[in-house]
Amino acid sequence: MRELKVGLAGLGTVGTGVLRMLDRQRLSLAARTGCEIRVVAVSARDRARDRGVDLSAMRWHDDPVALARDPEIDVLLELMGGEGDPAKAAVCAALDAGKSVVTANKALLARCGTDLAARSEAAGGRLRFEAAVAGGIPIVKTLREALAGNTIHRVSGILNGTCNYILTRMADEKLSFETCLAEAQRLGYAEADPTFDIDGFDTAHKLALLTSLAFGTRVDAEAIYVEGIRSLTLADLAAADDLGYKVKLLGVAVRTDQGIEQRVHPTMVPKHWPIAQVSGVTNAVAIDGDAVALTLVGPGAGGDATASAVVADLADLALEAGGFAFGLPEAGLRPAERAPMQHHEGGYYIRLA
Ligand code: HSE
Repeated sequence: MRELKVGLAGLGTVGTGVLRMLDRQRLSLAARTGCEIRVVAVSARDRARDRGVDLSAMRWHDDPVALARDPEIDVLLELMGGEGDPAKAAVCAALDAGKSVVTANKALLARCGTDLAARSEAAGGRLRFEAAVAGGIPIVKTLREALAGNTIHRVSGILNGTCNYILTRMADEKLSFETCLAEAQRLGYAEADPTFDIDGFDTAHKLALLTSLAFGTRVDAEAIYVEGIRSLTLADLAAADDLGYKVKLLGVAVRTDQGIEQRVHPTMVPKHWPIAQVSGVTNAVAIDGDAVALTLVGPGAGGDATASAVVADLADLALEAGGFAFGLPEAGLRPAERAPMQHHEGGYYIRLA
């Protein structure tokens, strides 16, 4: 079977989550893609730390740029984060060497995504970033592939799990902003520097990527009006509640006669609107296309959700390399007997006469 050899830079919550997921899903991924995804080399800041994953079969690089240039790897998986070096240097080194890159780094992409895409185009690699926007929601693939035949008028939604978690708990449990933020950090939702979350920049980075995908424009985070949730008080949320609204931090990009208007700010949303009911770390993205309008809702942050999106990108590259197999017997599962299901947790089966 063909192999996709991966070099992983960054062994934090997401990096180790990806290693566990690849291990758990090894057979099923091979069955779906016709290719085995193998992490052959890694790089992280602290070599000695016990991360609870077996790294013994992987080559260690102290320098992520050396990892990116490792001749054995086909793909650099960049999960270090940060808009500058070493993430940027490693991604550029991999792309310039004709390798593919999978990254969750929205800050880097928002700053120089157009340049990185041009580099990958020039050298023949691929640049994949499903995990950079809205965690486990497959919004990049949806815009790039599934809705490619639409003219998009508007993309909007809740794009930051930390802020939605904070706003939900403040409104529902009357907890202080500081308590909710500390809890979001403890749960691994927040950025290393949480000001990116609460001041709206993380939402802006994601919106910049969505805008580019939806409208075919250059990635331009600078053009976005940004206001975060730092100054919202319990009294503000209570007043909105009395008036029949929930407060949500929304990112909005709309096609106008003057160009694409992009903004991020707290918004009073009528309580009966579906987006008002999106609570906790959950994200939601609504897309208005001329042919199809839809809303995707799912986990917006956290190790498992982000790992799921990263593995989806690796599977995409594996599919290109392997060419797709309709299942392998070793994957274990077979179709069940053909029999009507009587009931399951989603509802009851009704036999129609
Ligand atoms: N800090 C981000 C959030 C992580 O809370 O949404 C996922 O991008």
